[in-house]
Amino acid sequence: QHVVERNARVGQGGEVHQTPDSSGPRMTSMHGVPTSDNQNSLRAGARGPLLMEDFHFREKIFHFDHERIPERVVHARGYGAHGYFENYESLSDLTTADLFQRAGEKTETFTRFSTVLGNKGSPDMVRDVRGFATKFYTKQGNWDLVGNNIPVFFIQDAIKFPDIVHAGKPAPDRDFPQAQTAHDNFWDFISLMPESMHMIMWTMSDRAIPRGFRFIEGFGVHSFRMVNAEGVSRYVKFHWRPKLGLQSVLWDEALRINGADPDFHRRDLWDAIEMGDYPEWELGLQVFDDDFADAFAFDILDPTKIIPEEEVPLRMVGRLVLNRMPDNFFNETEQVAFCTQNIVPGLDFTNDPLLQGRNFSYLDTQLKRLGSPNFTQIPINAPRCPVHNFMQDGHMQNRGPKGRANYEPNSWSPGGPRADVEEGFRSYPEEISGVKRKLRPESFADHYSQARQFYLSQTPIEQRHIADALIFELSKIEVERITERVLTHLPIIDPNLAQNVASGLGMDLPDPAIPMIDPIDLPPSDA
Ligand code: HEM
Repeated sequence: QHVVERNARVGQGGEVHQTPDSSGPRMTSMHGVPTSDNQNSLRAGARGPLLMEDFHFREKIFHFDHERIPERVVHARGYGAHGYFENYESLSDLTTADLFQRAGEKTETFTRFSTVLGNKGSPDMVRDVRGFATKFYTKQGNWDLVGNNIPVFFIQDAIKFPDIVHAGKPAPDRDFPQAQTAHDNFWDFISLMPESMHMIMWTMSDRAIPRGFRFIEGFGVHSFRMVNAEGVSRYVKFHWRPKLGLQSVLWDEALRINGADPDFHRRDLWDAIEMGDYPEWELGLQVFDDDFADAFAFDILDPTKIIPEEEVPLRMVGRLVLNRMPDNFFNETEQVAFCTQNIVPGLDFTNDPLLQGRNFSYLDTQLKRLGSPNFTQIPINAPRCPVHNFMQDGHMQNRGPKGRANYEPNSWSPGGPRADVEEGFRSYPEEISGVKRKLRPESFADHYSQARQFYLSQTPIEQRHIADALIFELSKIEVERITERVLTHLPIIDPNLAQNVASGLGMDLPDPAIPMIDPIDLPPSDA
């Protein structure tokens, strides 16, 4: 009370302002008009009604009313940091991409880590995949490497993405996030989707409960292309390796940490960077050619498969250092828009059906989330190289073409930007032929071998953790036939794992002859 009274100032009209400190800049309206009073609304008389003409009040409340934008449909909870990428060597043998040409050169970056399923206010330490998305602000435009901390994905085709996300997020009728019914829906979907088994082994492993963002690996997942000056294309898989090593917590620790500090991961990153203990990752490439791809046991376009490092070792080509937190979470971490479609000359896509679907989805969702086709002008998304084109108008446009010309070709001089035949982005001229079809190729058919390889590559204690995680997760399923259907997959991965999980659940391993798609009647209340 004493402090408040000491700092109270009385304005010319007799109004009282509580201002403990007046050293900041002068407050203004959104239009720059100086504010005389930010604490009292304009009233008719000391105890009278509020006046509509109080534009300061109306502007302040109007802006507050519109503060929220839709959260991301997936990866809603995330935390970002600025940094740079530094090359160890020139990669001109592999690619013309400008950012990879010169040893020692640094490129500015922004990285956002995330969980996938929880909403924006959900806790950090859940069992989930972690997103690891990095925007490289290169001289040839922005390149986004939009990866996860697991090198494979649940599904082979983007058309299934809405289904797996719906099944994993809260059930539509009760809106429980990651609780009983969500478990039923998730595991119902998984049990009907054998291609998810490899990723399930990873998500049930300790990787899905990392100690912090500083301790996760990152993967571009898909095979991409690098194309060099001779036009030679090679396939590339991108890997981030944390300098601090891969570290996870135990499930019991995760539960406790989540209860004590649901912001544990973001606080850890904040503290480290604020203390000058900058986290680092090395970028590793797996590079291979068509001959390897043709001889490889799996399809290199199948995102549920890895390429073993025994077969294609990593070439470590540079490092990522995160050294600055955003000044404003919303401006940067919330408004950053990553998109797999953002690539630069010298890089290219492959025909991985998940990647091709992603290329459509991110831009589409970002128009809704950020509200304007001009979201590339928000500073965190804006390229740090010149941008010239004839895109015009739209909400929040600031870069519309200047002068007469707003179309191309035109014969005005100066007539505005022109395409660059030499250095502009060109798609790799891959030969394509075939019939239009919806069938999956036979080369995508083996769903269990790499699940088994991953499980067997784990130490005994890590294998125990996978079994324990499955027991915990499956024990939350209410409909036993869903549990049984999940259990039918496990012996194909590993008989011991299957037996351990069944025993942990107090169940017998089901007869493998259980039909894979046996409809389950909903109780009348849910039907
Ligand atoms: C967001 C990774 C598959 C649609 C994200 C983010 C990451 C990510 C890291 C968060 C980006 C950020 O921090 O803002 C991946 C990986 C995938 C995958 C590694 C598979 C390999 C898919 C697929 C689709 C999809 C198949 C749809 C067909 C989205 C959407 C967002 C998103 C709509 C929200 C984007 C936004 O609102 O800005 N994904 N994703 N993802 N992903 Fe994916």
